[in-house]
Amino acid sequence: MNKVVILNHPLIDHKMSIIRDKNTSSKNFRENVGEVGALITYELTKDLETVDKEIETPIQKMTAKELKKPVIIVPILRAGLGMVDGIHNIIPSAKIGHIGLYRDEKTLQPVAYYAKFPNEITTGVVIVVDPMLATGGSASAAIKTLKERGATDVRYVGLVGCPEGIERLQKDHPDVPIFLAALDERLNELGYIVPGLGDCGDRLFGTK
Ligand code: URA
Repeated sequence: MNKVVILNHPLIDHKMSIIRDKNTSSKNFRENVGEVGALITYELTKDLETVDKEIETPIQKMTAKELKKPVIIVPILRAGLGMVDGIHNIIPSAKIGHIGLYRDEKTLQPVAYYAKFPNEITTGVVIVVDPMLATGGSASAAIKTLKERGATDVRYVGLVGCPEGIERLQKDHPDVPIFLAALDERLNELGYIVPGLGDCGDRLFGTK
């Protein structure tokens, strides 16, 4: 069963209240979304393996450590883009892939219209980014595409989830740990998380 981590940290809670507030400006929203992305990544990367590396400080030689595997950040377009800079700032060596999905009108299933990943997804740690884990349909489809391309170590990071989204990922991808800043009550009839934060993509990019 998936590991589900709901971050419990005063800084994250503080920033989430700014993100959730409908009166927060788009600039402030974007900045806080990126910052929470960085803070969650600190927890998500806690178990990454390291290898020894011989370096020389200004004082003497020493054995230091560096990450063993490459890290690949894969935002689901478009709202996932909002968390990428925050994550990339703390893992500057990470490569970035992108996946875009649309919903097939007949089957109502998400279908990838764009998927470009670095080769390292087969050997590295892949962080799938989508701020809202609502139905879980997009996250599940994105992870399926990544696995079909050879990814084996996949982790999901988002801001807000709900029981429906977590259940879906648990059913479809029980090996993928889920990291969220908050777990909300439910989905409403329009597919929005309640109380949530509204449409994350619209708030990031100023669309309506
Ligand atoms: N996507 C969003 O942007 N917000 C929600 O509440 C659900 C899905």
